[in-house]
Amino acid sequence: MRSFYRGRDMGRVHSIAELTELARHRLPHFAWEYLSGGSEDELTLARNRASFSEIHLHSRALVPCHPPVILRHLLGRELAAPMLIGPTGYNGMLHRDADLHLARAATARGVPFCLSTVSNVSMEVIKAHVPEVDLWFQLYAMRDPDIQASLLSRAQQVGVETLLLTSDAMVLGNREWDRRNFIRPRELSLGNKLDVLRHPRWLHQVMWPNGLPSMGNLEPYLPPAERNALGSMKFIGEQMDTLLDWGMLARLRDQWSGNLLLKGVLHPSDAERALALGLDGVVVSNHGGRQLEGAIGSLDALRLIAPVVKGKMALLLDSGIRRGSDIAKALALGADAVLLGRTTLYGVAVAAEQGAGRALDLLREELTRTLNLMGCTDIQDLDPDCLADLHSHFTGRG
Ligand SMILES: Cc1cc2nc3c(=O)[nH]c(=O)nc-3n(C[C@H](O)[C@H](O)[C@H](O)COP(=O)(O)O)c2cc1C
Repeated sequence: MRSFYRGRDMGRVHSIAELTELARHRLPHFAWEYLSGGSEDELTLARNRASFSEIHLHSRALVPCHPPVILRHLLGRELAAPMLIGPTGYNGMLHRDADLHLARAATARGVPFCLSTVSNVSMEVIKAHVPEVDLWFQLYAMRDPDIQASLLSRAQQVGVETLLLTSDAMVLGNREWDRRNFIRPRELSLGNKLDVLRHPRWLHQVMWPNGLPSMGNLEPYLPPAERNALGSMKFIGEQMDTLLDWGMLARLRDQWSGNLLLKGVLHPSDAERALALGLDGVVVSNHGGRQLEGAIGSLDALRLIAPVVKGKMALLLDSGIRRGSDIAKALALGADAVLLGRTTLYGVAVAAEQGAGRALDLLREELTRTLNLMGCTDIQDLDPDCLADLHSHFTGRG
């Protein structure tokens, strides 16, 4: 299989699985593990996919086949499809300026792009280069209230309307591959250094000429000499607030007048509490199986949470979306939209904006075909009645 695809070749990639395989070939081993890996034995990572395979679509016969309506009104905006690119940190390890490529791909397809606190490209640069972007911002709560207030005010200034507070990463999940691949921060093991040399194209596209990038959003808070990869990693390690609690979320609700969503919700009581605090939504997520090992699959959690908050706040889901039919299942179980993590990252690793765009196009095409084959003319009509649940004792209703 060719290890590199240019934009014009992207049409020859026919599934996210193929894109994944191409990304695996293109990236050095340590970057591939960073992208694809989960914590510990990767049981939650596997569960995220298994839960999708355990529910089945219950199609209806003889429904005339027109292009189905997949537009979604969400948080005051119209999305061309019920999906968006979710927040992922340090994308510059996959491709230079990957955050910009993702923002462009999303914007060209009428869906939002959510920038991570620990992105490589800053929010100001994204907005300057992609002025039409529907930019969301994901916040890692900071120990220093002034730094947090500054991040929020910058987000407001660049036109962010929707803020996601991530709740599931106060400590880093147990990612053994990371400890295996690095002997100390940013210092790869000898085997990995040799492996990097076997990936000249990646070296050229990521490392040349300045090495690994710093974290753009954090640069204003770093001394000039430390505005680099190591300096920003040290800074975020010291700054991430490990004492985050509901009181902090209530204060954030007062501080942020735009849409506020809590990301990393897996328990219905937490979703209820977020609703009571006046949040605009929750993202049902286990961080793609990278944090709490043994955590409930995100689709399993959605079945518990939807009956409690569906229709009262925005209900989003991520972790494990790899097919358009996955999106149909998530919507049928109550999600308003899904966030994409690795799916668009595999694309960007393979072919920058064209690769991320191909991932979005594939999901859109698959979702459209799935709806046609189900006899469903509008995503509004997706509900538990569209599912045949053969393996679970949950009813999936409500
Ligand atoms: C490489 C990588 C980096 C991530 N960085 C962040 C981050 O900075 N902030 C955050 O809230 N979630 C982060 N996530 C989690 C994603 O937002 C999302 O929850 C997860 O990727 C969804 O699972 P999926 O990749 O199976 O779709 C990251 C995920 C990956 C794969």
